[in-house]
Amino acid sequence: MGAGIAHAAAASGFVVRTMDTDPALVRKAYDGIKARLDDRVKRGKLPAHDRDATLANLKIAESMGDFAKAEVVVEAVPEKAELKTRIFGELEKAVSDRTLIATNTSSLSVTKLSAAVQRKDRFLGMHFFNPAPIMKLVELVSGEGTSDQALVDARAVCAKLDKTAVKVKDSPGFIGNRVNRPFYLEALTLLEQGEADVASIDAAMRDVGGFKMGPFELLDLIGMDVNLSVTEVVFNDFGKPARFTPSKIQQKLVAEGLLGRKTGRGFYTHDEGEPKPAYQAALKDTSGWKPSEPFKAFAAALDKDADRATWLYARILLAVMNEAALAADSIAIPRDVNITMELGFNYPEGPLATADYVGLDIVQKLLAEFYSQSNQDERYKPNPLLDRHVKDGNLGEKTARGFLYHAL
Ligand SMILES: NC(=O)c1ccc[n+]([C@@H]2O[C@H](COP(=O)([O-])OP(=O)(O)OC[C@H]3O[C@@H](n4cnc5c(N)ncnc54)[C@H](O)[C@@H]3O)[C@@H](O)[C@H]2O)c1
Repeated sequence: MGAGIAHAAAASGFVVRTMDTDPALVRKAYDGIKARLDDRVKRGKLPAHDRDATLANLKIAESMGDFAKAEVVVEAVPEKAELKTRIFGELEKAVSDRTLIATNTSSLSVTKLSAAVQRKDRFLGMHFFNPAPIMKLVELVSGEGTSDQALVDARAVCAKLDKTAVKVKDSPGFIGNRVNRPFYLEALTLLEQGEADVASIDAAMRDVGGFKMGPFELLDLIGMDVNLSVTEVVFNDFGKPARFTPSKIQQKLVAEGLLGRKTGRGFYTHDEGEPKPAYQAALKDTSGWKPSEPFKAFAAALDKDADRATWLYARILLAVMNEAALAADSIAIPRDVNITMELGFNYPEGPLATADYVGLDIVQKLLAEFYSQSNQDERYKPNPLLDRHVKDGNLGEKTARGFLYHAL
């Protein structure tokens, strides 16, 4: 991540000084950047002078003293709180009072990390997405002591980086890693309940939802273990709410070492040829399934068939949308929640925008149906923000206001 962030910053005109445990590691990372840029020049994708300008901005820091005048220092060392806090203590002594000290942590509390510095007002999270030179989003995470000025300054840095900044209060998973949990967990629940097999659920998300990849294809790509550990962090740090309970199916695959592409098998085979489903679901008999009235209204609003594929999509989308609305009611503004899922997680459209398009009254009724059918599983409990909007007549695009504003 450090190399990616350095690359993105240098390409945007920042003079970058990078430090690792050994300067040779920075040189190696810079060689990697140079190789990638050379390749793009060779393929006619990048003018040679842009490559040269980027490379000229990449310098090696020999000591913390080289950060003395930095506008911002982004820490991207391994995800270990003791290591990070030790570095922040040293760093603060070396930098100016105006320097922003930012952590790229994905899962640690920014407020807890800020205990290591005196100037808590200049400390925040700047959570980049991988690969940093390409992904357009940065989550700006404010700890309890982070000042508004620091957020304004960090936003200006993101603008220079040509990245969209979203603001979020320090909380487990920030926006993206929290709101995206049900994308996997609900798919895993559908599998566990025998509602459909792996390939059908993936196909529903691609064909009905317009996602590039389905949840199981993504789990295999990311790594089953990497994804499970994010779920565990969010589950534990929120105090183990039922809706984030890690999936038994996923835990079993991790225990068996079936981690996805990197081990040649996960939910699919990845040895030779096209991936084939490798997980045998115990399917229930769905031949008597009939679409309910709330579901028919949902499918009609999206101009989709009221069939099983759309129903699978509805189950996953509504679980994600419900979490997005909870986040939009507590840690970030709705627009930022929505855009995080588009820019950070490649959603074809943010879940709150889709809910507004469908109509919040329709979404609420279908969620209520899932809620009662599941013996009141909290993941489908219509969230308070949704209920308030429906009560106030803010039904989405058709009333020009829902989770988002749609008035011209
Ligand atoms: N990998 C991702 O997709 C991703 C995405 C967003 C955020 N993050 C976060 O970014 C951070 C780094 O993750 P990563 O995947 O790049 O880790 P990594 O292990 O690949 O890289 C960490 C780097 O830090 C260096 N390092 C270790 N101790 C150091 C020290 N004392 N001083 C200076 N450098 C030191 C290591 O040599 C290594 O080059 C973590 O906090 C992680 O949660 C990762």
